[in-house]
Amino acid sequence: MPDDARLLVADKSQDVGRAALDGLLQAQKSLPPWLFYDEEGCRLFQRITELPEYYLTRTERALLITVAPRVVSDFSRNDTGTVLIEYGASDESKADALLAASDATGGSVFGAYVPIDVAAPALNAMAARLRRARPDLVVHPIAADFLRPVSLPPALARLARLGFFPGSTIGNMRPLVAQRFLRQAQATLGPGARFLVGADLRKDPDLLIPAYDDAAGVTAAFNLNLLVRLNREAAADFDLTGFDHRAVWNDRESRIEMHLVSRHRQIVRVAGVAIPFAAGETIHTEDSYKHTEAAFEAIATAAGWTLSAIWTDPARLFALYLLEGPASS
Ligand code: AVJ
Repeated sequence: MPDDARLLVADKSQDVGRAALDGLLQAQKSLPPWLFYDEEGCRLFQRITELPEYYLTRTERALLITVAPRVVSDFSRNDTGTVLIEYGASDESKADALLAASDATGGSVFGAYVPIDVAAPALNAMAARLRRARPDLVVHPIAADFLRPVSLPPALARLARLGFFPGSTIGNMRPLVAQRFLRQAQATLGPGARFLVGADLRKDPDLLIPAYDDAAGVTAAFNLNLLVRLNREAAADFDLTGFDHRAVWNDRESRIEMHLVSRHRQIVRVAGVAIPFAAGETIHTEDSYKHTEAAFEAIATAAGWTLSAIWTDPARLFALYLLEGPASS
């Protein structure tokens, strides 16, 4: 292992302990959703995307394939070329729909691709694959937390910008946080940019609940894996049989919440701190907001964007929003 990789792991394990304690010492115990994505968590999430109950990924993928030519055609008259900037890019499969649509126009729409993600190893692996598959594309990965401002490489300053935030990851953010993120993205993307955002839609809880509590128990394993991770990386001693997975629909907030429910009174040690649990007490591990089209538009508009198109699948499960930023003055 190279030195810098070891450093990264060491830094991360400190953050894990601190993040866990921050959440577990609150009155309503919570853990931040980024903790889900260790190696096992990424593997389990991949399995979630293939579950019959989890309609999000396959619906968005099908929608993207039909929508991509229309999004790309808006940029094809632009003679500077366009840079595609993807937030939370864990692999190239979604950007591929846009890059392929660009190929179909003659292949000259996107001159560069900037994937932004916290997971540096996955980013670099993806960049290597893409450079091999598309030697003409400038691939410039940025390993960063996209909730903080990022600056684009100056070499790409002259290109038109298309931001891309798929996967309903924006659903993890409370509305005001989503608004702040969208405003910041506008500053990053610059005047005249467009932003394509994929987000799940509000729907019957009878469809939503199974998507977050599947029959095969994969989502339960994904949720409980948080405790496995804390045991390993935050010197914790969670008894995995002492907690249950629970997915609940919060109608007022229009969100699915995931919790881990303590089955009985117990004390758990995390990073040297004893944390008491009452029977039935929960750790709130994730929010997954399900905005109506109108609610999403309100958030985007409050962040300074104009909604220029909405596309949904025939069953209206999932939406792709094309946002337009203020033009350059
Ligand atoms: C990756 C945040 C979009 O909220 O649907 C899947 C994560 N959690 N099953 C979602 C998740 C439980 C997922 N996002």
